[in-house]
Amino acid sequence: MKLAEDERILVLGGSRGLGAAIVTEFSQKNFNVTSFSRKSKIKADFANPEKWNDILIQVKEYHPTRIIFCAGGGPYGPYGEYQWKDHSWALKVTFEFPAFLLHYLIQNPLSELQQISIIGSSIAESKPDPGAAAYCAAKHALRGLVTSLQKENLPFDLRLLSPGYMKTDLLPIDSAPRNEGRARDPFDIARLMIHSISDPALRLQNQSFD
Ligand SMILES: NC(=O)c1ccc[n+]([C@@H]2O[C@H](COP(=O)([O-])OP(=O)(O)OC[C@H]3O[C@@H](n4cnc5c(N)ncnc54)[C@H](OP(=O)(O)O)[C@@H]3O)[C@@H](O)[C@H]2O)c1
Repeated sequence: MKLAEDERILVLGGSRGLGAAIVTEFSQKNFNVTSFSRKSKIKADFANPEKWNDILIQVKEYHPTRIIFCAGGGPYGPYGEYQWKDHSWALKVTFEFPAFLLHYLIQNPLSELQQISIIGSSIAESKPDPGAAAYCAAKHALRGLVTSLQKENLPFDLRLLSPGYMKTDLLPIDSAPRNEGRARDPFDIARLMIHSISDPALRLQNQSFD
């Protein structure tokens, strides 16, 4: 679906990194775009299931034509050195909340909502990611969910957009991908993603952005 002038674009997790770059790119083109997250003007914590129904109300009140789910994260280091709450946080933010949101919006379609894009990870969704096991598990699960749902009869276009390494808070300053020049500028990826999601020929298709 091509971008219409009256689009209402909701970026879930748009306060920093890739999400913020997507928000900025849309704003500069004068689109109506907003972010929900812990530090956004509209507060939402995707790791707290007690608040999920409140977030659904906020989503409906915005009347989005497109949703881009950008939030994700998790602890970095040996699995056993973190507490379960840290892994649980990663699973909730990266997988459980978007799975819950998709379930709700399939059961209760919003008339204006035409497309949902979920940000995956070209690395963590299909290969091991040592030191980031919970995050990697959540990204694998997201890919399984989206690719399975794409075979069902959905009330909206659904896409998985999978970036490679990017220079954001998620990627430590002294990490190998940054040191080796393999981490990309999130604004470059945001522009490529916007171009991709506005191409109707790519409906229900997934794309990597390495
Ligand atoms: N950076 C990379 O190398 C890389 C590679 C592959 C895939 N990705 C994926 O790209 C997406 C964006 O990542 P990024 O690199 O831009 O990360 P980032 O800079 O750490 O930004 C993460 C975003 O998620 C939001 N968020 C985190 N926890 C949240 C929570 N509990 N509730 C609500 N919002 C929450 C943050 O907002 P608040 O802090 O305001 O809540 C922030 O806007 C993620 O899905 C990530 O897995 C990143």
